[in-house]
Amino acid sequence: MLGPRKAIASPGASGGGHALKKTLSWPHLIALGVGAIVGTGIYTLTGVGAERAGPAVILAFAVAGAVCACAALAYAEMATMIPQAGSAYTFSYTAMGESIAWIVGWSLVLEYSLACSTVAVGWSGYLVGWIQSAGITLPHALLVGPHAGGIINLPAVLVALAVMGLLIAGTRESATLNIILVIIKLVALAIFVAMAFPAFKAANFHPFMPYGFSSTEILGEKRGVMAAAAIVFFAFYGFDAVATSAEEAKNPGRDLTIGIVGSMVVCTGIYMLVAIAAVGAMSYVTLGNSPEPLALVLRTLGQPMAAHLIALAAVIALPSVILVMMYGQSRVFFVMARDGLLPRALAYVSPRTGAPTRITAITGVTVALVAGFFRLDEIAEMANAGTLIAFVSVGASMMILRRRAPDVARLFRCPAPYVVGTATILGCLYLLVSLGYATIERFVIWNAIGLAVYLLYGRRNSLLRTGAVPAPAE
Ligand code: ALA
Repeated sequence: MLGPRKAIASPGASGGGHALKKTLSWPHLIALGVGAIVGTGIYTLTGVGAERAGPAVILAFAVAGAVCACAALAYAEMATMIPQAGSAYTFSYTAMGESIAWIVGWSLVLEYSLACSTVAVGWSGYLVGWIQSAGITLPHALLVGPHAGGIINLPAVLVALAVMGLLIAGTRESATLNIILVIIKLVALAIFVAMAFPAFKAANFHPFMPYGFSSTEILGEKRGVMAAAAIVFFAFYGFDAVATSAEEAKNPGRDLTIGIVGSMVVCTGIYMLVAIAAVGAMSYVTLGNSPEPLALVLRTLGQPMAAHLIALAAVIALPSVILVMMYGQSRVFFVMARDGLLPRALAYVSPRTGAPTRITAITGVTVALVAGFFRLDEIAEMANAGTLIAFVSVGASMMILRRRAPDVARLFRCPAPYVVGTATILGCLYLLVSLGYATIERFVIWNAIGLAVYLLYGRRNSLLRTGAVPAPAE
């Protein structure tokens, strides 16, 4: 009923001209991880989180970080056991069968593409703030979408298209550029913490949890620590994009473990510091209303130069997040097409650059359109919903394969796998229901469309179903 399953660590359904080059080692992967993880989540959604939870946004970061840490461990085990492109989609295909894999793949499409759009909008907020604080006025209609009284968020559209161009030019150059951008981003956050901590006021922490813990609607707005956790969850993912590049890693066992777990640990530490510094320096009410909260904190503290620098760093470095996410998205699409679930012509890899150019172009244009017309928190919530389903599937896949294939080599073994797997599933489901009704409804509609595509196309053309690739012996 759940459809055929892929063989464990099968070389995939690749044929000539459809295999990705092995060009990445662990420094690339850690940079890829941190590059994807530190972005609009900490730079912008910290403000939205503070609005929803008050100073307890710090707690929200801790909750989301704990859930992601469990998911990261499960990911590391699965990625080193099945070092193929496609991450959660490929794991589910192997552990649970094609139908579930489709739902997960379709959710990953949502995760990666909407995460790109979210970051593009966050980037635009810092760019516009930076330009305007320099005294230059820009036409409002071209800076925000229709939801905020404008026509289109043009900067967000342009940055998405620019990143698409970089990816089409080839993975290698993009990954190296990414390392430089990661360094800029981390130095800027260090400067922020150093400047904001001296202004720490204990009074800003009272009341600590003004809206309580669980997610509730107050006057039409989502409030509570869990409502904040469900949105700042965005700040933590991206390490999974490292897993999608498994097939391009030179030494998957060592490189992926260091890449995934390492980048996760680094980022969690940084976030706690930034959140404490931001909420300690300024009332959470003011923080919540800003499209560029970190720059706002510094400007309010009488540090316009530092505010300028933070905004500049965000403007220079946030595109690296879009880069990694768009990379992940094109790879998931690529593998789904290579498996026959989407038209195979989409899996074309350019012989010159080694990049799946057609899929990258489709992804880039879609990301740009969403970024141009929709609201930041709504896009982020949809991206989170897709990611949470993917994480649930990874926790489940890890536990299923521990039972079904206990002897298959795992280069990284998750400690206490059943505890970690169960915590991943329950934690992600709790975050999912905390997202709010409207997002869950949209997410169900997205999956209904996906299911229709699967029944009309994917199921009929699946290489495993049509026998073009042998299914594993039971
Ligand atoms: N974690 C990434 C960010 O915060 C998606 O931008």
